[in-house]
Amino acid sequence: MDAGTSDSIQHVADVLVSCHYVVCLTGAGMSVESGIRPFRGPNGIWTEYGEPPLDDYRRFVTDPVGYWKGLLHPVGYYRELYAALEGAEPHQGYVALTELERVGVLKYIITQNIDGLHRKAGSSNVAEIHGSYLMCRCVSCGERFRREEVDVSSLPPRCFSCGGVIKSDVVVFGEPIPEDVARTCVDQADLADCMLLVGTSAYVYPAASFPRQVSAGGGTLVEIGPHPTEITEMCDVVVRGTAAEVLPQLADAVASRMDY
Ligand code: APR
Repeated sequence: MDAGTSDSIQHVADVLVSCHYVVCLTGAGMSVESGIRPFRGPNGIWTEYGEPPLDDYRRFVTDPVGYWKGLLHPVGYYRELYAALEGAEPHQGYVALTELERVGVLKYIITQNIDGLHRKAGSSNVAEIHGSYLMCRCVSCGERFRREEVDVSSLPPRCFSCGGVIKSDVVVFGEPIPEDVARTCVDQADLADCMLLVGTSAYVYPAASFPRQVSAGGGTLVEIGPHPTEITEMCDVVVRGTAAEVLPQLADAVASRMDY
């Protein structure tokens, strides 16, 4: 890591301790060093296979049985992605974010990732805007179930509470973000006077709207990632490094500034 990056980490630590409500938005790049490919940029899944169709949700609604067969027996890049998800463990960058939460600097994490690694690492305040592959959700009443609780002997599985159709909690293209998690994300972005962007290309909405909302409200944007993104130009501070390299150094720099 070059001296410039180390200097910018020190600067980011000054920013974080001077702000009152820091929210972190993470994307697929946060999990690259846990063995899960990103979607865009070098080695991106969509870079290789092309962006997926944007009508997955319409196809689920018209053929929920076909959707479940694809979910239970994934092929192509979904097979690769789900294999990587099953084997993934949080790297030290995830632990660093739990430290920033513990010392009271990081108030909330909004993650676009479905891998559950923030919670697995011990973060408490996490909104999974695209859901979690570990959970299922009724599309009628919104109730969530752990995936192992759902009986898939007959498809599509039905909600225990209302009889509605159950799908994976993972939000597919064209699917509305569930109201409860959408509300949390908007509220957290409203409260933020600083947003730490880690491992996101800031390309997919509505998640990509949150940093723009924070910046429009006069908040500070900090980007951590190895490559320029859609939002780099709007960021106040940019640290060109990876999540597993930068975040532990950032957590140490913040800890050294906390008199506790
Ligand atoms: N550390 C930090 N950032 C990294 C790393 C790393 N080790 N490796 C790559 N990156 C950066 C890339 O440079 C890129 O800017 O992470 C970003 C990943 O961008 P995307 O793959 O587009 O991921 P994301 O922004 O989360 O995509 C949003 O798109 O396909 C949908 O639902 C999917 O949630 C996903 C959404």
